[in-house]
Amino acid sequence: MPPTADKLGRPIHDLRISVTDRCNFRCPYCMPAELYGENYQFLPKSELLSFEEIERLAHLFVDLGVEKLRITGGEPLLRHELPRLIERLAAIPGLRDLALTTNGYLLEKQAAALRDAGLERITVSLDSLDEEIFKRMNGRTFGPQRVLAGIEAANRAGMRPIKINCVVQRGVNDHTLVDLARSFRGTGHIVRFIEFMDVGTLNGWDLAQVVPAAEIVERIGAELPIDPVDPNYRGEVANRYRYRDGSGEIGIIASVSAPFCGDCTRARLTIEGKLVTCLFAADGTDLRTPLRSGASDVELRDLIESIWSRRTDRYSEQRAELTQSGDPSTRKAKIEMYQIGG
Ligand code: GTP
Ligand code: 5AD
Ligand code: SF4
Ligand code: SF4
Repeated sequence: MPPTADKLGRPIHDLRISVTDRCNFRCPYCMPAELYGENYQFLPKSELLSFEEIERLAHLFVDLGVEKLRITGGEPLLRHELPRLIERLAAIPGLRDLALTTNGYLLEKQAAALRDAGLERITVSLDSLDEEIFKRMNGRTFGPQRVLAGIEAANRAGMRPIKINCVVQRGVNDHTLVDLARSFRGTGHIVRFIEFMDVGTLNGWDLAQVVPAAEIVERIGAELPIDPVDPNYRGEVANRYRYRDGSGEIGIIASVSAPFCGDCTRARLTIEGKLVTCLFAADGTDLRTPLRSGASDVELRDLIESIWSRRTDRYSEQRAELTQSGDPSTRKAKIEMYQIGG
């Protein structure tokens, strides 16, 4: 059966699954410390989908055409017994790719167990190697050493490829990009520079803080010559560049300056079981209630299919139009980044 397509002809191909709303970092662009203090009440366990529930839904998504799953958070390594979930998901027939995005702080201890459970590849967020800048960007007093140890442990465990995500904010970390690229050159790891996006409502986003992809390419290329490379597959989020001297590749995620909604095949499942069809959506559709009140697989699959087949989201393309027309009213209700995991 061909995968279910949406109103703009985009098949459902990827599912990003958030497994916790908690995080041990307080990146100001996601979960500012002044709003998420010691007493902040995250969702109670009864509200979270259980591993059984996640597995059942993931199966149904794979039936509908999903081939790739990515585990996200908050910080997914805070979810108790995560390798048990990985085991269940890795065993789903028809699944081709299983990955996870983490801030890496707890990775050193967990990498081997995650790999043994079937996690093939991993992406670690690391915005700067500069001690002070990294501390500022994670909102804690954490330096980058533990994250680097986590990356090393993932490498030893045999995860391939390892990707390093760096959110670029002008005036915050943009002067440390070349350093980051240089330090992973030749390791086989792929550093990806991400244009700062207006995800959620809390990060006071402003176009002036975005360093456009073209400028990132120019700044890195001036010191470490690079050439563009074809995408691995249609709809790949990052644009690829290879070092001219053969020492590896980097990626640039240009969702602001060059939106990629036309090929967007990504669905998202929130911690409390809502199906969200765009990173910038105001809300999702509750799958947990029917799941917990005895819906059959056929009923759930029909519900997911009907949501996807009505989908028209293309927020990043619309934002570009609005920004170009000078319309300041781009503010809308949006799910927060830590609830949806990117
Ligand atoms: P790969 O499978 O390795 O290509 O991963 P990925 O780049 O799809 O996932 P990752 O979690 O590493 O996300 C990298 C960045 O791209 C994050 O900032 C995400 O928020 C962003 N991103 C991922 N998917 C989308 C999307 O559909 N739309 C937009 N606007 N951004 C996205
Ligand atoms: N813009 C771009 N990327 C972001 N991330 C978190 N917030 C933003 C934002 N506003 C990144 C995280 C992580 C990935 C899932 O999304 O750093 O690497
Ligand atoms: Fe945590 Fe990631 Fe949000 Fe930072 S961006 S606060 S690491 S969930
Ligand atoms: Fe997909 Fe929405 Fe991102 Fe566009 S903005 S690529 S529709 S998730």
